[in-house]
Amino acid sequence: MNNRPPPVPTAKERWEAIGVAATVSAPAYHLFLGDVRSVLAALPPSSIDTCLTSPPYWSVRDYGHPDQMGLEDELNEYVSGMVRVFQEVRRVLTDRGTAWLNIGDCYYHGAGTVDGKPPATGWKRNKQLCLVPFRLAIALQEDGWWVRNAVVWHKPNAMPASVRDRLTNAWEPVFLLAKAERYHFDLDAVRVPHQTDDGNERRRAERGRADGKAKGNDDLRRWLNSPRHRATIDGLREVRRRPNVPDCVELAAYLRKAAGRKGVDIYWVAEQLGLPYERTRHYFRTDRMGSRLPPEDVWERLKELLDLDTEYDDAMSVEVGDNVFRNHPNGRNPGDVQSVTLSGSSQEHFATMPMGLADWALKATLPAGGICLDPFMGSGTTGIAALRAGGRFVGVDVREDFLTHFVRWARSGGRRERNGKPGPPQPALFDAG
Ligand SMILES: C[S@@+](CC[C@H](N)C(=O)[O-])C[C@H]1O[C@@H](n2cnc3c(N)ncnc32)[C@H](O)[C@@H]1O
Repeated sequence: MNNRPPPVPTAKERWEAIGVAATVSAPAYHLFLGDVRSVLAALPPSSIDTCLTSPPYWSVRDYGHPDQMGLEDELNEYVSGMVRVFQEVRRVLTDRGTAWLNIGDCYYHGAGTVDGKPPATGWKRNKQLCLVPFRLAIALQEDGWWVRNAVVWHKPNAMPASVRDRLTNAWEPVFLLAKAERYHFDLDAVRVPHQTDDGNERRRAERGRADGKAKGNDDLRRWLNSPRHRATIDGLREVRRRPNVPDCVELAAYLRKAAGRKGVDIYWVAEQLGLPYERTRHYFRTDRMGSRLPPEDVWERLKELLDLDTEYDDAMSVEVGDNVFRNHPNGRNPGDVQSVTLSGSSQEHFATMPMGLADWALKATLPAGGICLDPFMGSGTTGIAALRAGGRFVGVDVREDFLTHFVRWARSGGRRERNGKPGPPQPALFDAG
């Protein structure tokens, strides 16, 4: 009997299998017209590398199609419907696949009812922020997704609110979800330059040395932890050290004497410590080659077991401090706040994601030549970003005009239409084959 696992399909084979049921196909994209809830079922498992999507937000916009999602009467119906869509997304992702989910919120208007009565608590009351993104993220987490980031997409040019009793909403969450604990994420591709006006710091940053220098120097530590310096470093790691550490041979002799006084041998000590004899005896060896200092927890136990006095208390005391991860030579981790200006919507679509956000997300999660899915593609921002990044795109929408718009946009080389006219044709890149 042959127990060998089936061969992993090549990218070409995966691409061809996805295209079998596509409505429109080109060398770099397959588009599907229809309800995502049935379309995704036609895609083969483990065929997509990453997904970037902005689904219809709950109770916000009418896309004028009988199969559209987003206009469910009840929020929990919307959430469970999205969880089902994302179950399919998870199925079609490769084992190292990821999904970016951008989703906005809304306010509850009017007086809701629970069991026919106005509710005294909860979100179903006039003016409540519904917290849709977070309800969905928690439901997805419960369903098996790894929630890795809740990125703040900050909109510097957000529409000001006319209300006077709350703040303008100037951000939306973008969740980074992973199918498994380990997944493809190219941090180097999204690193940003270190910010420092200090020449020495900049040189160290460029060299990318990883040595900490907080060695018990309080002034230095304060400086390292200062907000100005923090902008230049990658992170801090807790370090535990003994600043006045004694010579291990000297300490071993002291321990031997104490054991002798108590009339116990190393076997007994090892047994009490629950450690192998081979390890324990090093704490009692008085030759330089074999002598070792006991770690913090073992030292505390030895004090009890051998009735040690306070002679070595200071010398064995442990200081806890911060050590610095020196700047990474390729730049700083960009953090989970991204400021991206809202761009004007295209002629056909009014809820477009800014190109900058899509480009940024895919840099991190789309492998070279990989396949990206948007199950709610709209005008196709995700698709253009995937093609520009040298990848391939699989898009789904219920509206035929959005698919047509994408094909025109892709043929123009990813130039947004102006006044209803497509950009100049550049078929070489994304030509419909
Ligand atoms: C927020 S928009 C996506 C915008 C897109 N990210 C862009 O940049 O243009 C949501 C899209 O989901 C589509 N949609 C709604 N319900 C759907 C369904 N059941 N199946 C497939 N697409 C659906 C809508 O037609 C709309 O284009």
